[in-house]
Amino acid sequence: MISPRLRTIFWAMSLTTVIARQILFDSSDDSSSRWTTFPHAITRVAVVGAGPAGLQAAAHLRAANLTVRLFERAPSPGGNWFYTEDTPTREGYPNGTAEKDEKVPKTLPARIFYEEGEDGIRLDDRWTEHWQPRPVWYDLHTNTPTTMTELPGVKYSPNTPWSVSVHDVQRHVRAYASLHGLNSNDPPIPPSSTPIASYSTRVESIKKCNHTSTWTLTMRRIERLQEPKRVRVDFWTEEFDAVVVSTGRYTTPYVPAIEGIGNWSKAVEHGMYSMYHSQSFRHPERYSGKTVLIVGASISATEIARAIVPFTDRLIASVRSNSVAQGRGLDILLSFPEKTEIVPEILSFEPLKGDDAGIRAGIIHLLNGTTLTGIDEIILATGYRSNTFLPDLVNPRTLSNLHWTGHYIDDPTLAYTSLGRPWTHGRYQSYGLAKVWTGTARLPNQKQMWQDYQARKYQFGIPLDVFPQEAQIRQFVAWLNAEALEFGGQFVDPLPVETRETFAYFVNAHWKQDWLMLENYTWFDNLPSSEWPKPWGSETEQVKDVLW
Ligand SMILES: Cc1cc2nc3c(=O)[nH]c(=O)nc-3n(C[C@H](O)[C@H](O)[C@H](O)COP(=O)(O)OP(=O)(O)OC[C@H]3O[C@@H](n4cnc5c(N)ncnc54)[C@H](O)[C@@H]3O)c2cc1C
Ligand SMILES: NC(=O)c1ccc[n+]([C@@H]2O[C@H](COP(=O)([O-])OP(=O)(O)OC[C@H]3O[C@@H](n4cnc5c(N)ncnc54)[C@H](OP(=O)(O)O)[C@@H]3O)[C@@H](O)[C@H]2O)c1
Ligand SMILES: *[C@@H]1O[C@H](CO)[C@@H](O)[C@H](O)[C@H]1NC(C)=O
Ligand SMILES: *[C@@H]1O[C@H](CO)[C@@H](O)[C@H](O)[C@H]1NC(C)=O
Ligand SMILES: *[C@@H]1O[C@H](CO)[C@@H](O)[C@H](O)[C@H]1NC(C)=O
Ligand SMILES: *[C@@H]1O[C@H](CO)[C@@H](O)[C@H](O)[C@H]1NC(C)=O
Ligand SMILES: *[C@@H]1O[C@H](CO)[C@@H](O)[C@H](O)[C@H]1NC(C)=O
Ligand SMILES: *[C@@H]1O[C@H](CO)[C@@H](O)[C@H](O)[C@H]1NC(C)=O
Repeated sequence: MISPRLRTIFWAMSLTTVIARQILFDSSDDSSSRWTTFPHAITRVAVVGAGPAGLQAAAHLRAANLTVRLFERAPSPGGNWFYTEDTPTREGYPNGTAEKDEKVPKTLPARIFYEEGEDGIRLDDRWTEHWQPRPVWYDLHTNTPTTMTELPGVKYSPNTPWSVSVHDVQRHVRAYASLHGLNSNDPPIPPSSTPIASYSTRVESIKKCNHTSTWTLTMRRIERLQEPKRVRVDFWTEEFDAVVVSTGRYTTPYVPAIEGIGNWSKAVEHGMYSMYHSQSFRHPERYSGKTVLIVGASISATEIARAIVPFTDRLIASVRSNSVAQGRGLDILLSFPEKTEIVPEILSFEPLKGDDAGIRAGIIHLLNGTTLTGIDEIILATGYRSNTFLPDLVNPRTLSNLHWTGHYIDDPTLAYTSLGRPWTHGRYQSYGLAKVWTGTARLPNQKQMWQDYQARKYQFGIPLDVFPQEAQIRQFVAWLNAEALEFGGQFVDPLPVETRETFAYFVNAHWKQDWLMLENYTWFDNLPSSEWPKPWGSETEQVKDVLW
């Protein structure tokens, strides 16, 4: 028997809880309008992209019993880490955007066959244009430790060094895909159902139908056929209640509009272009005995310089002051090899005399008035322009108009994953997407999301911004667990402390000496959210995605 006095105490306690909840979650008169609601239940979700971010999203949405379709333009999972000897379709000059070879037919579904050389296009070129081989090279190693490039539930082998090769990362991501039934040959379960993943399938458009409140995706799948050698292209549409865009950030190269670059871009020697973007760099042996000019001063520029310097006769780098990198002083990460001659930014390329003798005799004018000549090859390590869907909705460079959870504020049935670090944040973000769309976590209403966004309340930095990235994880853990308390579902853990330890060791050895200590994390852990550091570059409108 509970005494009346105790009962009163219990009653008072639960009343306090109720009041606390009212304050936390329900301070307005109309509680339902405080949160985002959806016009109908969400059951079918499309995920676009099978890199580390998209695979995790698909796995979590599946675990929440949603019907998932995963579309990936490449023939295999891995995203950025799917290495091939094939190089990407050559970038356009000066803007970098290569043109697509065909339009979507008016009536769908549609099937088109192409023969070798039809419309003057080789089958190989149709194939690479479709899936865009990755901007990674044979000897690429990660510049982050394995604790930051590891997907949940799959392990690198025990003696793997912290910095791993592109090939190891590729296998790792494939293993994650297989674990979740998302790999290219995984059968659907039950067998009669539609397979989850569709590879070699590029999503061409995503359109919202206001009438049905659903998204219509248009797909283009390509298959290479033998005997006779042909290419088959299929177009079709599918409808979804929600869409996750996980298309990565490094597919469209940025080519600077330097005067005369178009003229030089056409120059070839022994059938190979003399100037190209770093996305096509694969092997260093090609540079034996050559004079090479690298344009740019960020990670691709310095890494490629280190990779080719044992082979080159002369290595020159055209560098303009890089405010972001210099501001951070990441002197180990962004160092050119000693042998590199650093020259100023390029002003213009003087028109070449002919097309087929390379660029050796060509003259390059530098910003400080001097000229350069005798260059065999130019590698433009000038970075990428983020390339996402719906550029009219979300600025592809800044991923603007997104709530910190990745939801598109004006219509949260659309979400983007390319925030922060997909490897470590992906698990939280994906779980959050699944919870919101199955009704076990809430999003603030649109007005509140816009207010937070405009106040930059939850703006998290680019991947190199250590503490804003930590803030994002804290934010996710707090939100997901608070919602689980209310609506059920598993609690999530913060990242293990070892992750911080390895990251600090790694960063001090590979980015900048004595830069990051465990004490820095402890300091951060004790900060309330009102004192969280703002990401670097947040004072400018465009948060630059310069560095990893
Ligand atoms: C040279 C280089 C080195 C890097 N090194 C590191 C590193 O050391 N450590 C690190 O953590 N990160 C590194 N990164 C960053 C890299 O982007 C991330 O590691 C990670 O791959 C991002 O995952 P994601 O899933 O968001 O995107 P991605 O891995 O880029 O995957 C996006 C996927 O979407 C697919 N896709 C795109 N458009 C469509 C479409 N229309 N239809 C269907 N599918 C589509 C693409 O084919 C791709 O498979 C590096 C990037 C580059 C370019
Ligand atoms: N080992 C690895 O893991 C590895 C290797 C390579 C790349 N990456 C990742 O890949 C991503 C892209 O890196 P990135 O280096 O390719 O691109 P990036 O970081 O965007 O760098 C582009 C560089 O080109 C410079 N640039 C642009 N136009 C120029 C011009 N006209 N003249 C001179 N310089 C010019 C930029 O200078 P400004 O800053 O002045 O604009 C910048 O230094 C990053 O996430 C990076 O971490 C990782
Ligand atoms: C998903 O469905 C399975 C089988 O019906 C069930 O056991 C599981 O609890 C469901 N999971 C969620 C998160 O609803
Ligand atoms: C290409 O770049 C130039 C110069 O920056 C710009 O004027 C033009 O609009 C761009 N074209 C495309 C297709 O983006
Ligand atoms: C759908 O609704 C939005 C918001 O009301 C509007 O901006 C958009 O133009 C509409 N689209 C179509 C195709 O009607
Ligand atoms: C211009 O830059 C080059 C390469 O760094 C240097 O050798 C030269 O002295 C500079 N010229 C002037 C006028 O500053
Ligand atoms: C570069 O321009 C010159 C002069 O206009 C022209 O003769 C030459 O053919 C051009 N070269 C290329 C590769 O376009
Ligand atoms: C870590 O803390 C030290 C000492 O306060 C500080 O000098 C350093 O800038 C911090 N590192 C980072 C990455 O914030």
